[in-house]
Amino acid sequence: MKEKTLVILKPSCVVRGLVGEVTKRFEQKGLQLVGMKMCQLTDEQLSEHYGQHKGKPFFQQLKDAMMVTPVVVCCYEGVDAVEVVRNMAGTTNGRKSPMGTIRGDLCMSFQENIVHTSDSKENAEIELKRFFKPEEIFSYELPQCSFIYAADEV
Ligand code: CMP
Repeated sequence: MKEKTLVILKPSCVVRGLVGEVTKRFEQKGLQLVGMKMCQLTDEQLSEHYGQHKGKPFFQQLKDAMMVTPVVVCCYEGVDAVEVVRNMAGTTNGRKSPMGTIRGDLCMSFQENIVHTSDSKENAEIELKRFFKPEEIFSYELPQCSFIYAADEV
């Protein structure tokens, strides 16, 4: 079954000119871009988004780092999209993330780690509602779909 997931291209991605490199990887993989916009995140949005880190010493620093510049929020769709995108991002610490992953190839940091990706299907649904209005998520035919998946996979 196809599902949707959220990717945030963080300030470290925008400022370092890596938006094209990162979105190219998702496109080449076969994920379908169904939503994308640049926005300036607020402290309120980030307090909700990073709620599980509230009280940790890096909480405010993490939120501040996400507000330094606008970010690009993206919605990708595909079979097992949450897991596929998460595997492509790699592990949180860029210094330890395997080569071949976005973080392993492109960054050196725990915090300045290029992308945020939803960690479960349930959280993807919550996070997509947080950053997108319903009319900002699109549905359109992919003519090449039969060359991305076998008939019994979709
Ligand atoms: P992200 O995938 O956006 O989800 C939570 C973020 O918190 C994570 O990426 C890191 O950028 C950040 N983070 C987690 N742990 C730490 C830490 N110990 N120090 C700084 N930032 C952290």
